[in-house]
Amino acid sequence: MINLENFFSATRQTGLIKHHATLRRALVDHYENHEHGRSQEWDTTLARMPAIEVAEYAFDADRISLTLPRSTDLDVELFRSQLKTFMPWRKGPWQLLGIPIDTEWRSDWKWNRLRPHIMPLADRKILDIGTGNGYFLYRMLGDGARLVVGVDPTRVFLYQFQLVQNLLPTNNAHLLPLRCEHLPAFDYFDTVFSLGVLYHRRSPVDHIFELLSFVRGGGEVVLETLIVPGDVKTILVPENRYAKMSNVWFLPSTDALENLLCRAGMVNVRTVDVNQTSVEEQHATEWMDFQSLNDFLDPVDSSLTTEGYPAPRRALVIGNKLE
Ligand SMILES: C[S@@+](CC[C@H](N)C(=O)[O-])C[C@H]1O[C@@H](n2cnc3c(N)ncnc32)[C@H](O)[C@@H]1O
Repeated sequence: MINLENFFSATRQTGLIKHHATLRRALVDHYENHEHGRSQEWDTTLARMPAIEVAEYAFDADRISLTLPRSTDLDVELFRSQLKTFMPWRKGPWQLLGIPIDTEWRSDWKWNRLRPHIMPLADRKILDIGTGNGYFLYRMLGDGARLVVGVDPTRVFLYQFQLVQNLLPTNNAHLLPLRCEHLPAFDYFDTVFSLGVLYHRRSPVDHIFELLSFVRGGGEVVLETLIVPGDVKTILVPENRYAKMSNVWFLPSTDALENLLCRAGMVNVRTVDVNQTSVEEQHATEWMDFQSLNDFLDPVDSSLTTEGYPAPRRALVIGNKLE
């Protein structure tokens, strides 16, 4: 089990302290009391990984890279096999102590799409809902954020994050293995991201209200989600699976999504990007060897999913909480 005390000590002097008790209870209920079937294997591997502080690191490049000090010997093949224990590697790419990790997603492409449209992150306090393994948390630190807190319930991603953290000097990135439904209404963060989460939520409207409860008055919400073509009245609820995923509930048009955000009280709402997901951006690799986008599309007509729905297309919508 990963020790999360660093989050509590790093945020003791901040406005988050009043939520510590709630967060500790949530972590007991949803993390400590639910051991994952592979926790022991992951804990053992993590404990055997090299305890080296890297010589250099770069968070501002597309591939996040951590460089081994020149004088340090590393059993490269052992390290590679340890990294593979934590497959699937979905978000990246990374270059860890000389080993390139080609992830399922070119997450840097998403970052490059959203970056020109958001408030500059320098000195901001950020919450990233559904952060995955924290790739975006480091990109945020690379842009000068003061504090970055990610939330994601998928255990293997917490281990990926922790093995990177173990190689870095102390920094202000944190990942809490919780769902956003478990979080208190912080009313604190300058920017709240929710990238690729809304369509997984059975209560999408509640998700919007949650995001607004986390951000401070005047702060920014950056939402990215799957959308479908259509007008303000269009919302697709897949009959069963969507792109072979059984946990997709809600695909609005951009107009319907904007309407929903305004209705929830967000201001300055605008769609800044719409992008058809390509098989270059999402594909199986040596580090994520399950099925990927190519297997989810109709083999004859790639504008459709295997179920006959419009193929994955994502919108980036930004708005603010009222001052
Ligand atoms: C499609 S991935 C998106 C990851 C990343 N934000 C990105 O845009 O590439 C969805 C992530 O949300 C996480 N997730 C699903 N339900 C969640 C919830 N209720 N609260 C927080 N995270 C959630 C999943 O574990 C997964 O890592």
